[in-house]
Amino acid sequence: MMVSVQFLLFFGYVLSMPDCPQKCLCTPFLTDCRGASLYEVPHGITPKTETLILSDNHLTLISPGVLQHLFNLTFLGIANNKLSLQNDSFDDISKSILSLDLSGNNLMDLPSNLFRNTKKLVWLNLAENGLSLLDSTVFSSLGKLTYLDLSNNRLKMLTPMFVGLSQLDTLMLAGNHLSTIPQGVFDPIPNLKILVLSHNEISHLPEGLFDNLKSLNDLLLDYNNFTEIPHAIFTTLHNLEHFSISKNRIQNIPPLLFASRFTLRKLDLSSNLLSELPSDFLSGLEKLEVLNLSANCIGNVPKNLFINNTRLEFLHLDKICLQTLPIFLGLQNLIELTVCCNGLKFLPKAFTNNMVNLELLDLTKNNISQIEDDAFKMNPNITKVILTGNPVCTTERFMHYSFKGLDCSNKN
Ligand SMILES: *[C@@H]1O[C@H](CO)[C@@H](O)[C@H](O)[C@H]1NC(C)=O
Ligand SMILES: *[C@@H]1O[C@H](CO)[C@@H](O)[C@H](O)[C@H]1NC(C)=O
Ligand SMILES: *[C@@H]1O[C@H](CO)[C@@H](O)[C@H](O)[C@H]1NC(C)=O
Ligand SMILES: *[C@@H]1O[C@H](CO)[C@@H](O)[C@H](O)[C@H]1NC(C)=O
Ligand SMILES: *[C@@H]1O[C@H](CO)[C@@H](O)[C@H](O)[C@H]1NC(C)=O
Ligand SMILES: *[C@@H]1O[C@H](CO)[C@@H](O)[C@H](O)[C@H]1NC(C)=O
Ligand SMILES: *[C@@H]1O[C@H](CO)[C@@H](O)[C@H](O)[C@H]1NC(C)=O
Repeated sequence: MMVSVQFLLFFGYVLSMPDCPQKCLCTPFLTDCRGASLYEVPHGITPKTETLILSDNHLTLISPGVLQHLFNLTFLGIANNKLSLQNDSFDDISKSILSLDLSGNNLMDLPSNLFRNTKKLVWLNLAENGLSLLDSTVFSSLGKLTYLDLSNNRLKMLTPMFVGLSQLDTLMLAGNHLSTIPQGVFDPIPNLKILVLSHNEISHLPEGLFDNLKSLNDLLLDYNNFTEIPHAIFTTLHNLEHFSISKNRIQNIPPLLFASRFTLRKLDLSSNLLSELPSDFLSGLEKLEVLNLSANCIGNVPKNLFINNTRLEFLHLDKICLQTLPIFLGLQNLIELTVCCNGLKFLPKAFTNNMVNLELLDLTKNNISQIEDDAFKMNPNITKVILTGNPVCTTERFMHYSFKGLDCSNKN
């Protein structure tokens, strides 16, 4: 009863709001006209509006003056329309606007002076358009911008394109068919923390590309054409915490590549063509917490490989052509280990003895027909060992294993 009274009160309030355009929903500071089949910016938006959402409509332009009365507008969302923009499209709201979502508009170009007055902008989304050759100074007045999303365009990168973005901390450039990155392009954005270059066609990075990115924490290079790990990364990125280069064609790792990367916490090298791992290649990664080596036909994993990675909590070794399980050293903090889809036949009890904190072990789709007696005696926290798709599941003996966390069900 309480609930429905509140519900009625709330909607009564919404309906009685003055200045709410038809087909929109309004609260005192928000006007939400998503998916309202609009062909133009509606009249009657309350001047109190701070957030205006016009996404998923058919807007083609923002007529001069139509937003003029919205002195307090800080967020304008016009994603998924058919906008074409003029030099002065945002001049009316330039003194207040902080965030602008222009994604999904099939924009081919940006007028060179589009942002000249929107100097307060901190968040700008231009993803999912057809942007290619931008005027090299189009962003240069955005000295407060912290987030810029240019994903899924067809950008041609120009060296000066990020000049002026001195506060930028997140730059998304995924899905742009990029094959090269011009040297020096990131020099003007020394505060960058997150750089996403996934889903491009990059095979090489120029020397010194990251020299100025002393604060970079996250670098994502997944789904590119790399055949080796770009060396530039490890000579300069002294604060890197998350590095991901999965789904490339990396064949080998030079010894000691990661030797001095003490800061790395998350590393993803999965889905490459690695066949061998130097035994000390993780030796410098004392802070590593998450490691994914899945989908590389490695076969032989040295038992010392993780000996210095004492903080490792999540380790993924799926599809790596393992035939037997080495008794790994280290791993005393491991919580989750996945070893799916290998050719393992036997689970020795000593395998998990060092992994005193282990909670989950996934052995799905191996060829395990036997588990050694007393397995998991040293693992007080283990709750689940997934064995789905192994012959052991169908043996008579299965019912008699003393450890009760064994799981052969198909719903994992
Ligand atoms: C805009 O915000 C200011 C400060 O919160 C407030 O005083 C003013 O009344 C608001 N303007 C409108 C048109 O609501
Ligand atoms: C935008 O401004 C620039 C420089 O003032 C001018 O060259 C250009 O023609 C303008 N473009 C439009 C679409 O108004
Ligand atoms: C990147 O790899 C893809 C898939 O193998 C290939 O089609 C494309 O031509 C490559 N691009 C470059 C620039 O080498
Ligand atoms: C590890 O990598 C594989 C292959 O790229 C991927 O399918 C899987 O989701 C990754 N696991 C985690 C936990 O990220
Ligand atoms: C582990 O660290 C020690 C001391 O830094 C070093 O001597 C050794 O080579 C490392 N071992 C591996 C396998 O990384
Ligand atoms: C097991 O889990 C508990 C509670 O999460 C934790 O305090 C403990 O350190 C874990 N490890 C061992 C070996 O008990
Ligand atoms: C599974 O192991 C048995 C012997 O234990 C072997 O005959 C069989 O070929 C193996 N199957 C696969 C798919 O590796």
